[in-house]
Amino acid sequence: MVIGGAGYIGAHVVRLLQERGDKVVVVDDLSYGTPDRVGDAKLIELDVANTAFVSDLVNTMVDEDVTAVIHFAARKQVGESVMRPAWYYQQNVGGMANVLLAMHEAGVKQMIFSSSAAVYGMPPVEVVEEDIEKHPINPYGETKLIGEWMMADCARAWGLRWTGLRYFNVAGSGWDELGDPATLNLIPMIFDRLARGKAPAIFGTDYPTPDGTCIRDYIHVKDLARAHVSALDALASDAELKHNVYNVGTGKGTSVREIVDACREVSGINFVAEEQDRRAGDPPQLIGNATRITEDLGWNAEFGVKEIVESAWSAWQASPRKIDVEKANEIFAK
Ligand code: UD1
Repeated sequence: MVIGGAGYIGAHVVRLLQERGDKVVVVDDLSYGTPDRVGDAKLIELDVANTAFVSDLVNTMVDEDVTAVIHFAARKQVGESVMRPAWYYQQNVGGMANVLLAMHEAGVKQMIFSSSAAVYGMPPVEVVEEDIEKHPINPYGETKLIGEWMMADCARAWGLRWTGLRYFNVAGSGWDELGDPATLNLIPMIFDRLARGKAPAIFGTDYPTPDGTCIRDYIHVKDLARAHVSALDALASDAELKHNVYNVGTGKGTSVREIVDACREVSGINFVAEEQDRRAGDPPQLIGNATRITEDLGWNAEFGVKEIVESAWSAWQASPRKIDVEKANEIFAK
């Protein structure tokens, strides 16, 4: 069962599982996802954060012989989480509680959870390892850390086998029709501004980094999807799990300016980025050490920033918001 399987990352995992012949049932409230993204998987439309649907979840798990749950469905806007903390707890922690209650009742004992690099907050090290102290700096990151604790508690209580994958900055697309439909992160926000005839914005150019802009660890969504499949196979085996949480990053950092430059090159649109003030709450640098997932699960990122930006652009240009490059260049030539 893939909860949130009609969304951006979830749909990539659904596609990979289908390609290898796994039977998949998708649960999604379709708040961001769309039904056409799940292929021939059965789609159950419900909101897991609504306690009224727990029994429906249990019934679906039993009826569909569900063996494992991959849980993506959550809210992920950091700023919004600061404004509406209780709602974030209700959505992300409440949703998680409902999923775990249903799993326990249905006897489903394997779970993969979308955690986040946001659990680290502003880490005092250049590259983060999983075991450093975690001090999330916003409710979004707090809800993700709590999600990990909840699984650890259920492991002790009723033998849940679980893996939390801490995503770094996910971008790109594995198939044009599965591009990120939301414009909430850097690369889609760059294309969104270009589609509106505006220059992309850089939030802060005075950070203590080589080019003054924030550094992140960008991970191709298809690589991330493969990490879920590897984690699922490890859960399904009888072997003892070596660890429960993994960074899914590349160990390499890329600055906002480098991403903006790559977007200029790949799109062929000759814009000059708009340099704005810092956005509140952005850590200067967040890079994930991926040694643990490589050693335990044999996973490695195959794609780099170039493939990420190229595939994101290709998906954007296949979408209804396709940008007329010639027109855009006329606008920016003025
Ligand atoms: C944040 C969270 C991350 C979460 C993700 C979900 C933190 C530290 N990170 O990632 O855990 O999973 O949101 O959405 O809480 N930027 C610009 N111009 C733009 C847009 C972004 O300069 O138009 C910059 C940002 O300031 C940031 C970088 O680009 O430095 C990446 O931003 P974004 O894609 O929003 O991701 P994070 O903030 O790193």
